[in-house]
Amino acid sequence: MKKYIIGNWKANFDRAAVDKFGADFGAARGDFHLSKEVEIIVAVPSIFYGYLWEKEPGFGLALQDISVFGQFGAHTGEIVAPALAGMKPTYTIVGHSERRADFGETNQVVIEKAQNLRAAGITPVIAVDMDQVAEIATLLAAWEPESFIIAYEPVEAIGSGANLQGELLGESLKLLRSKFAPGTPVIYGGSVNSENAGEYVGVTDGLLIGGASLQAGELLKIASKF
Ligand code: PGA
Repeated sequence: MKKYIIGNWKANFDRAAVDKFGADFGAARGDFHLSKEVEIIVAVPSIFYGYLWEKEPGFGLALQDISVFGQFGAHTGEIVAPALAGMKPTYTIVGHSERRADFGETNQVVIEKAQNLRAAGITPVIAVDMDQVAEIATLLAAWEPESFIIAYEPVEAIGSGANLQGELLGESLKLLRSKFAPGTPVIYGGSVNSENAGEYVGVTDGLLIGGASLQAGELLKIASKF
């Protein structure tokens, strides 16, 4: 089964830093053996998306969010899913806890965004914490299991260094998987780095990585564990 190693740069990097990452990634790529099942994807700030698309950087590209509006129109500042035709990412994140906290996004909004992505032929990576799982699972009940990816991100684990691991990780993943149809990919996110990434091999379908994805070598090292 496929393994998704998804970096999320969040609101980091200017163009020089993007170029440096690309150069570092290209230089380090040959140092790591990656399983054929592993796909490396980086969710970049939207301003750099088209730039990187043209450059074909050697890793997959995603957006970090998409508009709740599903069509072209008078929505200043928004990026609507149909605008991605011709340079379409395979995946795009929705429902990140930072969007929920900073912009008050509800599960309903998250699912509307996911629907907009699906309509455009893009697979949504739907980020959830445990208290959102029941409602999200209900809203997704009619969806094909492989038409979306669930990113389980305990909010207290994000950017804190306190990654979920061991028995608690196992129990949480079991509970979460029980809410979705078999075959639904489930990845984990929250303070993952190359030191602890091994914890998630065999129990998840991949990772959503924030801070550690800002260094190309670190992202590759994490991917090489799967
Ligand atoms: P982190 O972020 O790896 O820096 O904890 C994860 C995320 O927000 O997806």
